[in-house]
Amino acid sequence: LTVDASPQSGQKIPDTLFGIFFEEINHAGAGGIWAELVSNRGFEAGGPNTPSNIDPWSITGQESFIYVSTDRTSCFPRNEVALRMEVLCDNTGSVICPSDGVGIYNPGYWGMNIEQGKTYKLILYVRSLNSINISVSLTSSDGLQKLASASILADASDVSNWTRVELLLESVETNMNSRLQLTTTNKGVIWFDQVSLMPSDTYKGHGFRKELISMIEDMKPRFIRFPGGCFVEGEWLRNAFRWRETIGPWEERPGHFGDVWMYWTDDGLGYLEFLQLAEDLGASPIWVFNNGISHNDEVDTTAILPFDVLDSIEFARGSRDSKWGSVRAGMGHPEPFQLEYVAIGNEDCGKKFYRGNYMKFYYAIKAAYPDIKIISNCDGSSRPLDHPADFYDFHVYTSARNLFSMTNHFDRTSRDGPKAFVSEYAVTGSDAGTGSLLASLGEAAFLIGLERNSDVVEMASYAPLFVNTHDRRWNPDAIVFNSWQQYGTPSYWMQLFFKESSGAIFHPTKIQASFSGAALVASTITWQDPADNSKNLKIKIVNFGSDTVNLKISVSGLEAGINSLGATTVLTSGDLMDENSFDKPNKVVPASSKLPNTGTEMDVAISPHSITSFDLPL
Ligand code: AHR
Repeated sequence: LTVDASPQSGQKIPDTLFGIFFEEINHAGAGGIWAELVSNRGFEAGGPNTPSNIDPWSITGQESFIYVSTDRTSCFPRNEVALRMEVLCDNTGSVICPSDGVGIYNPGYWGMNIEQGKTYKLILYVRSLNSINISVSLTSSDGLQKLASASILADASDVSNWTRVELLLESVETNMNSRLQLTTTNKGVIWFDQVSLMPSDTYKGHGFRKELISMIEDMKPRFIRFPGGCFVEGEWLRNAFRWRETIGPWEERPGHFGDVWMYWTDDGLGYLEFLQLAEDLGASPIWVFNNGISHNDEVDTTAILPFDVLDSIEFARGSRDSKWGSVRAGMGHPEPFQLEYVAIGNEDCGKKFYRGNYMKFYYAIKAAYPDIKIISNCDGSSRPLDHPADFYDFHVYTSARNLFSMTNHFDRTSRDGPKAFVSEYAVTGSDAGTGSLLASLGEAAFLIGLERNSDVVEMASYAPLFVNTHDRRWNPDAIVFNSWQQYGTPSYWMQLFFKESSGAIFHPTKIQASFSGAALVASTITWQDPADNSKNLKIKIVNFGSDTVNLKISVSGLEAGINSLGATTVLTSGDLMDENSFDKPNKVVPASSKLPNTGTEMDVAISPHSITSFDLPL
């Protein structure tokens, strides 16, 4: 294997090459990275009509002593449903309540993870015509073990109108399958609305689950595409993601039912929170907006008005004096966000009104924001686009062998015209299961092809990023989690081999001979570590074959030599279909070791079915 590492042979890789695609799928956001512990906090998930389904809220205590229903008496006009709880027992009358009272509980998203010594902020809205004495507690899933508790006491005159209550609960024990209970032993009617429980300790204080975000931080993503995917489109337009409904105080957001992935989200993770996450990660936000097209209905181009998306861009980028910039400032972010990319729709190229709608949005955005780069849904890799665009979107889900072969896909692409945004790629189907080593090998070879072709490929992201193990709508995914644990699939670990590539220099890398039983793909970059400005050379080799390959690596053209010992990292496993799991999260993870002999000439053995990197300090 020869590497020409001379400066003149190097090709700069775009600063944005590798990033992430976050979609609200598999409860990735609601019940996932968004740290809200209460599911259906506003009682809205059953729809706007009452009586409404309040799932997963349930009754605790003797059911004959309590009558729970919904009505439309909320103080929030965009989400009118409130919970009405009529308690028929008390401590003194003819019907005596159980000692723990009666009430309602919420188990969160398949159990709340409550940790000893940590605090949780509870906010709720309450109303009653009687004086209230409500016990708030965090308990085990059967309600028997109390982890934290507090009381809400008020006279009738203080709660006869909707009243906001905020309190901190500190847990004395850990239980990853907890629930929130609101109980009382007072007869009367109490209304509840917008009940929220958030851990005090979230990523940068912005509401995200720390341990999940830490996994994406480790990927060093240069962009984040959001909020979908099909989630942006909806099965029907009425259920598409509407940014305007997801901003402002969380209590006032109506929430919506994502009818593609079939679950309710209260939109606590809204447009601003996505922009905030991008900023916190140091990643460029890529806003995918609905262009008037869902899976089953479309808005005719003649009826398309681009103002909604212009407002969304003003919300992100406008000064605090602008109409929508001032709304953003009011939400606590006076400075504009660095929004530079928007995608017009998702996978809509074949739709009847796509081109017409696209052109309306395109010209309106370019007129108002000439620097914004616009991404088309139509594939320009095999033939030129018939409309203007800065980038075209490219999605591929296929078998491991196909994706491995697609390492050459962009070799043949015209060097003129818009560049590619490979915003969704993954090995799927029987090769992948719920995340196999085999899948990661095909994907790594594909990404090496993208590095090599990064003169025509600007950005790439794996899909989907997250799955809550209780809602596996889509397999495989990069990161699997439940209420308290998480692990990376081999496809997650594969992406870490590419975390230094964005902005690095790509060097020609040739494999001189072919080996029976081996299928090798390789690339080399030089990159500078921003932490200490050190220069490094990284060679990556994917061995898709079943034989060990002995290679002589020769690096030429270095201005200075390789000045200290390097390291090698290998991702492999005993069986191609090996996967990680909660029980064995480290079954297929990269293993690093020091290289005994680092130099410009090295004899190395490449394991079968592996991804290997050689990291050499310069
Ligand atoms: O990544 C899962 C889905 O695959 C996305 O929502 C969609 O864009 C694609 O079809």
